[in-house]
Amino acid sequence: MRSAATLPGTLLAAWLLVGCEAPDTVLAKHGCASCHTPATEGLGPSLRRISTHYASKEELVLFLEGKSAPRVSPEAFEAMKPLVEQTRSLTPEERMRIAEAILRHRAE
Ligand code: HEC
Repeated sequence: MRSAATLPGTLLAAWLLVGCEAPDTVLAKHGCASCHTPATEGLGPSLRRISTHYASKEELVLFLEGKSAPRVSPEAFEAMKPLVEQTRSLTPEERMRIAEAILRHRAE
């Protein structure tokens, strides 16, 4: 049964294609990780600190669409502004994935 034997490979390929990426892969892919790390303040605020300012993915998506003002470090927003230009041009699904990846860093 050739089809049965190739099924796992097909499933794996589909899984990779639909974007079941490790949470931080999506941030690395868009160049966010160079300024945002999980728990340390770097060029940008840590993902944990960002997550304390947003109660839901939907709220965070509004920021990524350029529709809400910065809350975490408004005085440093100039450095983040070009990245919002970038995230607002992504697909809604990709923005949601980014918001999820950030909010996963909420301290328990
Ligand atoms: C060049 C460094 C840099 C890169 C690259 C970068 N950021 Fe930022 N980011 C910042 C700085 C600085 C701030 C603090 C200003 C602020 O709060 O908006 C920030 C703030 C944020 C905030 C908090 C917004 C708020 O309410 O204040 C989010 C969310 C965010 N970044 C997401 C991202 C995402 C997603 C990416 C990748 C697409 C990214 N950042 C890439 C520097 C960067």
